[in-house]
Amino acid sequence: MEYLEIEGGNPLYGEVRIQGSKNAALPILSAVILHRGTTVLRNCPKIIDVLYMLEILKGFGCRVSWEGEALVIEASDLAACQVAECYGRQMRSSIMLLGSLLGRMKQASVSYPGGCVIGERPIDIHLGALEKLGAVFAEEPSGLKAVCEKPVGLTLRLPFPSVGATENVILLAASAEGTTVLENAAMEPEIGELCRFLNSMGAKIRGMGTDKLVIDGVREFHDTEFTIMPDRIVAGTYMLMTAAVGGDVRLLDVPLEQLGSVRKVLGQMGARQEAGEGMLRIQSKGRPRSISRIITRPYPGFPTDLQSPLLAALSLGEGCSVIEETIFEARFKIVEELRRMGAQIQVEGQKALIQGVEELRGTNLTARELRGGAALVLAAAAARGTSRIYQYHYIARGYENIIRDLQSMGSVVQST
Ligand code: UD1
Repeated sequence: MEYLEIEGGNPLYGEVRIQGSKNAALPILSAVILHRGTTVLRNCPKIIDVLYMLEILKGFGCRVSWEGEALVIEASDLAACQVAECYGRQMRSSIMLLGSLLGRMKQASVSYPGGCVIGERPIDIHLGALEKLGAVFAEEPSGLKAVCEKPVGLTLRLPFPSVGATENVILLAASAEGTTVLENAAMEPEIGELCRFLNSMGAKIRGMGTDKLVIDGVREFHDTEFTIMPDRIVAGTYMLMTAAVGGDVRLLDVPLEQLGSVRKVLGQMGARQEAGEGMLRIQSKGRPRSISRIITRPYPGFPTDLQSPLLAALSLGEGCSVIEETIFEARFKIVEELRRMGAQIQVEGQKALIQGVEELRGTNLTARELRGGAALVLAAAAARGTSRIYQYHYIARGYENIIRDLQSMGSVVQST
Protein backbone atom coordinates (compact mmCIF):
# COMPACT_ATOMS: atom_id res chain seq x y z
CA MET A 1 0.00 0.00 0.00
CA GLU A 2 1.44 3.36 -0.99
CA TYR A 3 -0.69 5.66 1.13
CA LEU A 4 -3.84 6.00 3.21
CA GLU A 5 -6.29 8.71 2.16
CA ILE A 6 -8.63 10.21 4.73
CA GLU A 7 -11.35 12.76 4.17
CA GLY A 8 -11.38 14.53 7.51
CA GLY A 9 -13.74 16.74 9.45
CA ASN A 10 -16.66 14.30 9.75
CA PRO A 11 -17.78 13.30 13.25
CA LEU A 12 -17.31 9.62 14.08
CA TYR A 13 -20.31 7.37 14.68
CA GLY A 14 -20.10 3.62 15.10
CA GLU A 15 -18.68 0.67 16.96
CA VAL A 16 -15.20 -0.84 17.02
CA ARG A 17 -14.01 -4.05 18.65
CA ILE A 18 -10.53 -3.60 20.11
CA GLN A 19 -7.87 -6.02 18.82
CA GLY A 20 -5.54 -8.13 20.95
CA SER A 21 -2.63 -6.41 22.66
CA LYS A 22 0.63 -6.00 20.74
CA ASN A 23 2.78 -5.44 23.81
CA ALA A 24 1.33 -8.54 25.47
CA ALA A 25 1.54 -10.72 22.36
CA LEU A 26 5.25 -10.07 21.68
CA PRO A 27 6.66 -11.23 25.06
CA ILE A 28 4.16 -14.12 25.10
CA LEU A 29 5.43 -15.25 21.69
CA SER A 30 8.92 -15.08 23.11
CA ALA A 31 7.82 -17.16 26.12
CA VAL A 32 6.32 -19.89 23.94
CA ILE A 33 9.76 -21.36 23.19
CA LEU A 34 10.34 -22.20 26.86
CA HIS A 35 7.99 -25.16 26.44
CA ARG A 36 8.90 -28.25 24.41
CA GLY A 37 5.36 -28.70 23.14
CA THR A 38 2.30 -26.92 21.76
CA THR A 39 0.80 -23.54 22.62
CA VAL A 40 -2.49 -22.20 21.30
CA LEU A 41 -3.01 -18.45 21.39
CA ARG A 42 -6.31 -16.71 20.77
CA ASN A 43 -6.89 -13.03 20.04
CA CYS A 44 -3.29 -12.62 18.88
CA PRO A 45 -3.26 -9.45 16.75
CA LYS A 46 -2.34 -9.92 13.10
CA ILE A 47 0.09 -7.03 13.01
CA ILE A 48 3.46 -6.77 11.28
CA ASP A 49 5.49 -7.06 14.51
CA VAL A 50 3.72 -10.33 15.35
CA LEU A 51 4.32 -11.65 11.84
CA TYR A 52 8.05 -10.79 12.16
CA MET A 53 8.18 -12.52 15.53
CA LEU A 54 6.58 -15.64 14.03
CA GLU A 55 9.22 -15.65 11.27
CA ILE A 56 11.92 -15.49 13.95
CA LEU A 57 10.31 -18.43 15.80
CA LYS A 58 10.17 -20.43 12.56
CA GLY A 59 13.89 -19.73 12.16
CA PHE A 60 14.48 -21.46 15.53
CA GLY A 61 12.56 -24.51 14.31
CA CYS A 62 9.03 -23.78 15.63
CA ARG A 63 6.08 -24.92 13.54
CA VAL A 64 3.54 -22.11 13.28
CA SER A 65 0.02 -22.27 11.86
CA TRP A 66 -3.23 -20.31 12.04
CA GLU A 67 -6.23 -22.56 12.61
CA GLY A 68 -9.08 -20.17 12.07
CA GLU A 69 -8.45 -17.41 14.61
CA ALA A 70 -6.23 -19.60 16.78
CA LEU A 71 -2.46 -19.36 16.46
CA VAL A 72 -0.82 -22.73 17.05
CA ILE A 73 2.90 -22.92 17.81
CA GLU A 74 4.75 -26.16 18.21
CA ALA A 75 8.20 -25.79 19.76
CA SER A 76 9.29 -29.38 20.53
CA ASP A 77 12.53 -29.34 18.58
CA LEU A 78 14.51 -26.14 18.28
CA ALA A 79 17.56 -26.30 16.08
CA ALA A 80 18.83 -22.72 16.25
CA CYS A 81 19.18 -20.00 18.84
CA GLN A 82 20.06 -17.13 16.55
CA VAL A 83 17.56 -14.33 15.80
CA ALA A 84 17.55 -13.83 12.02
CA GLU A 85 19.30 -10.51 11.47
CA CYS A 86 16.80 -9.19 8.92
CA TYR A 87 14.00 -9.32 11.54
CA GLY A 88 16.10 -8.68 14.62
CA ARG A 89 17.38 -5.35 13.37
CA GLN A 90 13.94 -4.17 12.30
CA MET A 91 12.22 -5.06 15.52
CA ARG A 92 13.55 -3.92 18.88
CA SER A 93 11.30 -6.37 20.68
CA SER A 94 13.51 -9.20 19.41
CA ILE A 95 15.74 -8.34 22.39
CA MET A 96 13.00 -9.96 24.45
CA LEU A 97 14.05 -13.33 23.06
CA LEU A 98 17.26 -13.21 25.11
CA GLY A 99 15.62 -14.41 28.32
CA SER A 100 13.60 -17.24 26.77
CA LEU A 101 16.38 -18.44 24.44
CA LEU A 102 18.79 -18.58 27.37
CA GLY A 103 16.17 -20.41 29.43
CA ARG A 104 15.54 -23.03 26.76
CA MET A 105 18.81 -23.29 24.79
CA LYS A 106 21.33 -21.91 27.31
CA GLN A 107 22.65 -19.65 24.55
CA ALA A 108 21.37 -16.88 22.28
CA SER A 109 22.51 -14.60 19.47
CA VAL A 110 20.67 -11.39 18.71
CA SER A 111 21.46 -8.40 16.53
CA TYR A 112 22.42 -5.43 18.62
CA PRO A 113 19.38 -3.12 18.41
CA GLY A 114 20.52 0.35 17.44
CA GLY A 115 18.87 3.67 18.26
CA CYS A 116 15.45 4.30 16.77
CA VAL A 117 13.29 7.26 15.86
CA ILE A 118 11.80 7.70 19.33
CA GLY A 119 15.13 7.61 21.18
CA GLU A 120 18.41 5.82 21.77
CA ARG A 121 16.79 2.91 23.65
CA PRO A 122 19.85 1.30 25.25
CA ILE A 123 19.65 -2.26 26.66
CA ASP A 124 22.00 -1.87 29.63
CA ILE A 125 19.25 -2.68 32.16
CA HIS A 126 18.36 -5.92 30.31
CA LEU A 127 21.99 -7.04 30.20
CA GLY A 128 22.80 -6.05 33.80
CA ALA A 129 19.81 -7.99 35.15
CA LEU A 130 20.37 -11.10 33.01
CA GLU A 131 24.06 -11.13 34.04
CA LYS A 132 22.97 -11.29 37.68
CA LEU A 133 20.98 -14.42 36.82
CA GLY A 134 24.12 -15.99 35.36
CA ALA A 135 24.23 -14.86 31.71
CA VAL A 136 27.56 -13.95 30.11
CA PHE A 137 27.56 -11.64 27.09
CA ALA A 138 30.08 -11.12 24.33
CA GLU A 139 29.86 -8.48 21.62
CA GLU A 140 30.46 -9.81 18.13
CA PRO A 141 30.46 -7.97 14.80
CA SER A 142 27.01 -9.39 13.98
CA GLY A 143 25.51 -8.58 17.38
CA LEU A 144 25.36 -9.92 20.86
CA LYS A 145 26.12 -13.48 21.90
CA ALA A 146 24.95 -14.76 25.27
CA VAL A 147 25.53 -17.95 27.22
CA CYS A 148 23.87 -19.02 30.46
CA GLU A 149 24.73 -22.57 31.43
CA LYS A 150 22.86 -22.54 34.71
CA PRO A 151 20.55 -19.63 35.52
CA VAL A 152 20.17 -19.26 39.29
CA GLY A 153 17.52 -17.14 41.02
CA LEU A 154 18.38 -14.31 43.41
CA THR A 155 16.98 -11.00 44.61
CA LEU A 156 17.64 -8.14 42.20
CA ARG A 157 16.44 -4.61 41.76
CA LEU A 158 16.10 -2.81 38.43
CA PRO A 159 17.58 0.72 38.38
CA PHE A 160 14.51 1.82 36.35
CA PRO A 161 11.24 -0.12 35.83
CA SER A 162 11.98 -0.97 32.18
CA VAL A 163 9.16 -2.96 30.61
CA GLY A 164 11.39 -5.04 28.34
CA ALA A 165 14.02 -5.70 31.04
CA THR A 166 11.31 -6.84 33.47
CA GLU A 167 10.03 -9.25 30.80
CA ASN A 168 13.50 -10.59 30.04
CA VAL A 169 14.14 -11.30 33.72
CA ILE A 170 10.80 -13.10 34.03
CA LEU A 171 11.55 -15.18 30.92
CA LEU A 172 14.91 -16.36 32.23
CA ALA A 173 13.90 -16.69 35.89
CA ALA A 174 10.87 -18.84 34.98
CA SER A 175 13.14 -21.83 34.38
CA ALA A 176 16.08 -20.84 36.63
CA GLU A 177 17.12 -22.85 39.65
CA GLY A 178 15.54 -21.44 42.82
CA THR A 179 13.57 -18.25 43.41
CA THR A 180 14.07 -14.84 41.82
CA VAL A 181 12.70 -11.77 43.54
CA LEU A 182 12.54 -8.85 41.12
CA GLU A 183 12.19 -5.43 42.75
CA ASN A 184 11.30 -2.18 41.03
CA ALA A 185 9.71 -4.24 38.26
CA ALA A 186 7.62 -2.43 35.67
CA MET A 187 3.89 -2.66 36.45
CA GLU A 188 2.50 -2.31 32.93
CA PRO A 189 -0.55 -4.60 32.50
CA GLU A 190 1.25 -6.48 29.71
CA ILE A 191 3.71 -7.81 32.30
CA GLY A 192 0.88 -9.27 34.36
CA GLU A 193 -0.42 -10.85 31.16
CA LEU A 194 2.97 -12.43 30.40
CA CYS A 195 3.06 -13.86 33.95
CA ARG A 196 -0.51 -15.21 33.64
CA PHE A 197 0.43 -16.85 30.35
CA LEU A 198 3.55 -18.42 31.86
CA ASN A 199 1.58 -19.62 34.90
CA SER A 200 -0.97 -21.18 32.52
CA MET A 201 1.86 -23.36 31.18
CA GLY A 202 3.20 -24.31 34.58
CA ALA A 203 5.38 -21.40 35.76
CA LYS A 204 5.17 -20.18 39.36
CA ILE A 205 5.04 -16.39 39.43
CA ARG A 206 3.45 -14.16 42.08
CA GLY A 207 3.10 -10.44 42.62
CA MET A 208 1.44 -9.49 39.32
CA GLY A 209 0.31 -5.87 39.29
CA THR A 210 2.92 -4.86 41.88
CA ASP A 211 6.53 -3.74 41.53
CA LYS A 212 7.83 -6.89 43.23
CA LEU A 213 7.62 -10.16 41.36
CA VAL A 214 8.50 -13.50 42.92
CA ILE A 215 9.40 -16.20 40.41
CA ASP A 216 9.99 -19.80 41.49
CA GLY A 217 11.87 -21.49 38.67
CA VAL A 218 10.36 -24.72 37.29
CA ARG A 219 11.95 -27.50 35.22
CA GLU A 220 9.04 -28.37 32.93
CA PHE A 221 6.21 -26.53 31.26
CA HIS A 222 3.07 -27.99 29.70
CA ASP A 223 0.78 -27.32 26.73
CA THR A 224 -1.57 -24.40 27.14
CA GLU A 225 -4.34 -22.41 25.44
CA PHE A 226 -4.45 -18.73 26.25
CA THR A 227 -6.47 -15.71 25.11
CA ILE A 228 -4.50 -12.47 24.81
CA MET A 229 -6.08 -9.41 26.43
CA PRO A 230 -7.25 -6.42 24.35
CA ASP A 231 -4.88 -3.59 23.47
CA ARG A 232 -5.18 -0.58 25.79
CA ILE A 233 -3.12 1.62 23.47
CA VAL A 234 -5.34 0.94 20.45
CA ALA A 235 -8.39 1.62 22.65
CA GLY A 236 -6.77 4.84 23.91
CA THR A 237 -6.01 5.96 20.36
CA TYR A 238 -9.68 5.65 19.36
CA MET A 239 -10.81 7.31 22.61
CA LEU A 240 -8.61 10.34 21.90
CA MET A 241 -9.67 10.31 18.25
CA THR A 242 -13.34 10.55 19.21
CA ALA A 243 -12.58 13.31 21.72
CA ALA A 244 -10.77 15.33 19.04
CA VAL A 245 -12.94 14.64 15.98
CA GLY A 246 -16.29 14.58 17.79
CA GLY A 247 -19.12 12.07 17.50
CA ASP A 248 -20.52 9.08 19.36
CA VAL A 249 -18.44 5.89 19.35
CA ARG A 250 -18.80 2.59 21.20
CA LEU A 251 -15.61 0.64 21.80
CA LEU A 252 -16.05 -3.06 22.57
CA ASP A 253 -13.62 -5.38 24.37
CA VAL A 254 -12.01 -2.42 26.12
CA PRO A 255 -9.65 -3.14 29.07
CA LEU A 256 -11.36 -0.45 31.16
CA GLU A 257 -9.42 -1.14 34.35
CA GLN A 258 -6.14 -0.38 32.52
CA LEU A 259 -7.28 2.95 31.13
CA GLY A 260 -7.71 5.03 34.29
CA SER A 261 -5.17 7.73 33.39
CA VAL A 262 -6.48 7.97 29.81
CA ARG A 263 -10.11 8.20 30.92
CA LYS A 264 -9.16 11.00 33.30
CA VAL A 265 -7.55 12.94 30.44
CA LEU A 266 -10.59 12.33 28.24
CA GLY A 267 -12.80 13.76 30.98
CA GLN A 268 -10.56 16.84 31.23
CA MET A 269 -10.92 17.26 27.46
CA GLY A 270 -14.69 17.40 27.93
CA ALA A 271 -15.67 14.05 26.37
CA ARG A 272 -18.61 12.17 27.94
CA GLN A 273 -17.95 8.56 28.82
CA GLU A 274 -20.32 5.75 29.63
CA ALA A 275 -18.74 2.48 30.68
CA GLY A 276 -20.37 -0.96 30.67
CA GLU A 277 -18.92 -4.45 30.83
CA GLY A 278 -15.88 -4.27 28.51
CA MET A 279 -17.58 -1.41 26.68
CA LEU A 280 -16.88 2.30 26.55
CA ARG A 281 -19.11 4.82 24.83
CA ILE A 282 -17.53 8.20 24.10
CA GLN A 283 -19.51 11.25 23.07
CA SER A 284 -17.89 14.50 22.13
CA LYS A 285 -18.96 17.72 20.44
CA GLY A 286 -16.97 20.76 19.33
CA ARG A 287 -13.31 21.35 20.11
CA PRO A 288 -11.73 19.51 23.04
CA ARG A 289 -10.74 21.48 26.14
CA SER A 290 -7.03 22.03 26.60
CA ILE A 291 -5.08 20.42 29.47
CA SER A 292 -2.70 22.68 31.37
CA ARG A 293 -0.08 19.99 32.05
CA ILE A 294 0.18 16.29 31.40
CA ILE A 295 3.26 14.16 32.02
CA THR A 296 3.95 10.69 30.61
CA ARG A 297 4.90 8.18 33.30
CA PRO A 298 5.33 4.42 33.73
CA TYR A 299 2.02 2.62 34.41
CA PRO A 300 -0.36 3.57 36.01
CA GLY A 301 0.65 7.02 34.72
CA PHE A 302 -0.33 8.40 31.31
CA PRO A 303 1.32 6.09 28.72
CA THR A 304 4.08 7.41 26.50
CA ASP A 305 2.55 5.36 23.65
CA LEU A 306 -0.47 7.69 23.69
CA GLN A 307 1.56 10.87 23.91
CA SER A 308 1.58 11.50 20.14
CA PRO A 309 -2.17 10.85 19.70
CA LEU A 310 -2.80 13.20 22.65
CA LEU A 311 -0.52 15.85 21.10
CA ALA A 312 -2.49 15.65 17.85
CA ALA A 313 -5.82 15.84 19.73
CA LEU A 314 -4.75 18.82 21.89
CA SER A 315 -3.55 20.74 18.84
CA LEU A 316 -7.29 21.41 18.39
CA GLY A 317 -7.79 22.25 22.10
CA GLU A 318 -9.52 25.42 23.24
CA GLY A 319 -6.50 27.10 24.82
CA CYS A 320 -2.95 26.13 25.75
CA SER A 321 -1.76 22.66 26.76
CA VAL A 322 1.62 21.37 27.88
CA ILE A 323 2.77 17.78 27.41
CA GLU A 324 5.92 16.58 29.13
CA GLU A 325 7.53 13.38 27.82
CA THR A 326 9.62 11.60 30.45
CA ILE A 327 10.06 8.10 28.97
CA PHE A 328 11.52 8.49 25.46
CA GLU A 329 13.73 11.46 24.63
CA ALA A 330 12.81 11.85 20.97
CA ARG A 331 9.07 11.38 20.86
CA PHE A 332 7.98 14.73 19.43
CA LYS A 333 8.91 13.85 15.85
CA ILE A 334 5.38 14.40 14.52
CA VAL A 335 5.36 18.07 15.50
CA GLU A 336 6.72 19.09 12.06
CA GLU A 337 3.94 17.18 10.30
CA LEU A 338 1.25 18.63 12.58
CA ARG A 339 2.60 22.15 12.00
CA ARG A 340 2.17 21.66 8.26
CA MET A 341 -1.52 21.02 9.03
CA GLY A 342 -1.72 24.36 10.84
CA ALA A 343 -1.00 23.22 14.42
CA GLN A 344 0.83 25.66 16.70
CA ILE A 345 3.29 23.65 18.76
CA GLN A 346 6.66 24.63 20.25
CA VAL A 347 9.04 22.01 21.57
CA GLU A 348 11.32 23.00 24.46
CA GLY A 349 13.44 20.05 25.52
CA GLN A 350 11.08 17.35 26.77
CA LYS A 351 8.04 19.66 26.73
CA ALA A 352 5.61 20.44 23.94
CA LEU A 353 3.72 23.70 24.31
CA ILE A 354 0.51 23.55 22.31
CA GLN A 355 -1.61 26.56 21.41
CA GLY A 356 -4.87 25.00 20.22
CA VAL A 357 -6.13 26.09 16.79
CA GLU A 358 -9.68 26.12 15.46
CA GLU A 359 -8.97 23.69 12.69
CA LEU A 360 -6.28 21.59 11.07
CA ARG A 361 -5.92 21.41 7.28
CA GLY A 362 -5.63 18.11 5.44
CA THR A 363 -2.35 17.60 3.59
CA ASN A 364 0.20 14.95 2.58
CA LEU A 365 1.84 13.43 5.64
CA THR A 366 4.51 10.82 6.29
CA ALA A 367 4.47 8.35 9.18
CA ARG A 368 7.95 7.76 10.64
CA GLU A 369 7.10 5.44 13.51
CA LEU A 370 4.14 3.49 14.88
CA ARG A 371 2.42 5.74 17.43
CA GLY A 372 3.35 8.94 15.62
CA GLY A 373 1.76 7.42 12.52
CA ALA A 374 -1.46 6.68 14.42
CA ALA A 375 -1.44 10.27 15.70
CA LEU A 376 -1.28 11.51 12.10
CA VAL A 377 -4.34 9.37 11.28
CA LEU A 378 -6.12 11.03 14.21
CA ALA A 379 -5.12 14.50 13.01
CA ALA A 380 -6.18 13.67 9.44
CA ALA A 381 -9.59 12.42 10.63
CA ALA A 382 -10.08 15.71 12.48
CA ALA A 383 -8.73 18.01 9.76
CA ARG A 384 -10.70 19.87 7.11
CA GLY A 385 -10.12 18.36 3.67
CA THR A 386 -8.24 15.32 2.48
CA SER A 387 -4.96 13.97 3.84
CA ARG A 388 -2.70 11.27 2.51
CA ILE A 389 -0.52 9.38 4.95
CA TYR A 390 2.53 7.73 3.43
CA GLN A 391 4.53 4.87 4.99
CA TYR A 392 1.45 3.11 6.32
CA HIS A 393 3.61 0.08 7.15
CA TYR A 394 4.72 1.78 10.38
CA ILE A 395 1.10 1.97 11.53
CA ALA A 396 0.49 -1.68 10.55
CA ARG A 397 3.21 -2.68 13.04
CA GLY A 398 0.73 -2.15 15.85
CA TYR A 399 -2.77 -1.57 14.43
CA GLU A 400 -4.29 -4.67 12.87
CA ASN A 401 -6.51 -2.76 10.47
CA ILE A 402 -6.90 0.93 11.22
CA ILE A 403 -8.69 1.40 7.88
CA ARG A 404 -11.41 -1.12 8.83
CA ASP A 405 -11.68 0.46 12.29
CA LEU A 406 -12.04 4.00 10.91
CA GLN A 407 -14.63 2.82 8.41
CA SER A 408 -16.57 1.22 11.29
CA MET A 409 -16.67 4.70 12.83
CA GLY A 410 -18.03 6.13 9.57
CA SER A 411 -14.81 7.80 8.50
CA VAL A 412 -14.19 8.17 4.76
CA VAL A 413 -10.88 6.41 4.29
CA GLN A 414 -9.27 4.31 1.60
CA SER A 415 -5.88 2.88 0.75
CA THR A 416 -3.94 3.09 -2.49
C1 UD1 B 1 7.87 -1.04 25.98
C2 UD1 B 1 6.78 -1.04 24.94
C3 UD1 B 1 6.63 0.34 24.33
C4 UD1 B 1 6.41 1.38 25.43
C5 UD1 B 1 7.49 1.26 26.51
C6 UD1 B 1 7.23 2.18 27.70
C7 UD1 B 1 6.76 -3.29 24.08
C8 UD1 B 1 7.01 -4.20 22.94
N1 UD1 B 1 7.09 -2.01 23.92
O1 UD1 B 1 9.08 -0.72 25.32
O2 UD1 B 1 5.50 0.31 23.45
O3 UD1 B 1 6.48 2.66 24.86
O4 UD1 B 1 7.56 -0.08 27.00
O5 UD1 B 1 5.99 1.93 28.23
O6 UD1 B 1 6.23 -3.70 25.10
N2 UD1 B 1 15.94 2.00 28.93
C9 UD1 B 1 17.29 2.07 29.21
N3 UD1 B 1 17.99 0.90 29.30
C10 UD1 B 1 17.41 -0.32 29.11
C11 UD1 B 1 16.01 -0.38 28.85
C12 UD1 B 1 15.31 0.79 28.76
O7 UD1 B 1 17.85 3.15 29.37
O8 UD1 B 1 18.10 -1.35 29.20
C13 UD1 B 1 15.17 3.25 28.80
C14 UD1 B 1 14.60 3.42 27.39
O9 UD1 B 1 15.56 3.98 26.51
C15 UD1 B 1 13.43 4.31 27.62
C16 UD1 B 1 12.93 3.86 29.00
O10 UD1 B 1 14.01 3.17 29.61
O11 UD1 B 1 13.86 5.64 27.68
C17 UD1 B 1 11.71 2.95 28.93
O12 UD1 B 1 12.02 1.80 28.17
P1 UD1 B 1 11.32 0.38 28.41
O13 UD1 B 1 10.38 0.48 29.56
O14 UD1 B 1 12.39 -0.65 28.46
O15 UD1 B 1 10.49 0.23 27.07
P2 UD1 B 1 10.48 -0.96 26.04
O16 UD1 B 1 10.44 -2.26 26.77
O17 UD1 B 1 11.53 -0.75 25.02
